Amino acid sequence: RRGASLSDLAEKIGVDAASLVQVLFHLGEMVTATQSVSDDTLEVLGAELEYNIEVVSPEDEDRELLESFDLEFGEDLGDEDDLAARPPVVTVMGHVDHGKTRLLDTLRKSNVAGGEAGGITQAIGAYQVQTTIDGVDRGITFIDTPGHEAFTAMRARGAKSTDIAVLVVAADDGVMPQTIEALNHAKAAGIPVVVAVNKIDKEAADPVRVRGELSEFGLIPEEYGGDTQFVDVSALTGEGLDRLLEAVVLTADAALDLRANPDMPAQGVAIEAHLDKGRGPVATVLIHRGTLRIGESIVAGSAYGRVRALINDKGENLTEAPPSMPVQVLGLTAVPGAGDNVLVVDDDRMARQIADKRGSRMRAAAQAVGSRRKTLDQLFEQ
Ligand code: GTP
Ligand code: MG
Repeated sequence: RRGASLSDLAEKIGVDAASLVQVLFHLGEMVTATQSVSDDTLEVLGAELEYNIEVVSPEDEDRELLESFDLEFGEDLGDEDDLAARPPVVTVMGHVDHGKTRLLDTLRKSNVAGGEAGGITQAIGAYQVQTTIDGVDRGITFIDTPGHEAFTAMRARGAKSTDIAVLVVAADDGVMPQTIEALNHAKAAGIPVVVAVNKIDKEAADPVRVRGELSEFGLIPEEYGGDTQFVDVSALTGEGLDRLLEAVVLTADAALDLRANPDMPAQGVAIEAHLDKGRGPVATVLIHRGTLRIGESIVAGSAYGRVRALINDKGENLTEAPPSMPVQVLGLTAVPGAGDNVLVVDDDRMARQIADKRGSRMRAAAQAVGSRRKTLDQLFEQ
C-alpha cells in the first residue's frame, strides 16, 4: 500500500521490522520502523530481499474494496441497447476574475421563467440550463470552478468528471497563467474545449488578440481553419450566450457519444459537500449513470446513508435524479469529500461497511503522514 511503513511491510512478509531498518541502513537510508516510506524505497528493499513488491495506489485499493462487494465504479455505463442520450457536463474554467461565475449567473437567470432570479436558492456551483437547438430542447449541465491557484486540485477533478471545458478568457486581459493551467487540465483529461471570449462589452476588449494568443497554445479558431470554437460573449449584457450554448451542443454532438443507462443503480461524484445546520450533511452529486432515487442506500467516500431528499439547482424537491443531473443529496451520516465517488448499494449494511473500511483507511493514511512529520521534526530538533 502506498505510504506503508517498514512495520507494515514486516508484518506482511513475516519478518522483524528492526531487521528491515537495518537492511535499509546498510543501503544508506535511515528510516524508522513506523515511518511511512516511499514507493522507491519499498522497491529497493524488495529487490534486496528478493521479494516482488507491488505498491498499491489508494485508487487500486478502493477498487479492490468495491470488488469484494461485487461493485465497480465508473467502468460500466450500461449495455449498448439500454443507453439513452444524456446532457453534456461542462466545466467552466479560466483565470481569476475573467467572469466564470458571472457567465453562469447570467445563463441561469435568462433560463428561469420570467427572468426572476430572487427565487433561486443558494448557489451550489452546478446548474442545468435548457436551450433549443434546431427546434430540439437540449439540456446542458454547467459546473463552476474557482480561478484561484489554490483550487488547482478541484479544477483537475472538475475536468475529470466532465465532457467539455468552456475556457473563459476576458478580452480586455487576454491569456493569463491560470488560463493556460486550466487549458492543460482539459488537455490532460482529453476533453474538447470551447473558448468563451468574455467582457467584449468593455472598451479595452480585444477578442482578436485572445485568438492569436490561444493559437500559440494549440487552440486554433475554426474561422482560422482550426477546430476550436471561439465565441465572443458578455456575461454582463448576455450578448453571445445563445451562440455559446449552441457551440457547446455542437461540440458535444460532433465529438462525443454522450449516453448512459438511466435504469441501473446510480453512480456519480460529489462535487461539493458541507454541513448544514438544519439539514445535516448536504452533498452536491453529479450523476454519471443510473437514476438516483429517494430511499436508496448510498455510500459517498467514507460517508453513507439513505437518500432522504433530492433538491435541484432551483431549490425544487425531486423524487429522482437522472444521468448528468447535479443534485443536492440529503440523508448522509457525514460530509463526504469533494471528488469522492457516490454509489447506490444493496442496503444500509453494505453502505456502512464500505464507508467504515474507507474511513479507517483514511485515518491510517493520515496517521502515517503524522508520524512521518514527527520524525522530521525530531530530526530538525537535533
Ligand atoms: P473567480 O471565481 O474569482 O475565479 O472569478 P470569476 O471568473 O468567477 O469572475 P466573476 O464572474 O466573479 O467576475 C469578476 C468580475 O468581472 C465581476 O466584477 C464581474 O461583474 C465582472 N464581469 C464578468 N463578466 C463581465 C463582462 O462580460 N463584462 C464586464 N464589463 N464585466 C464582467
Ligand atoms: Mg467565480
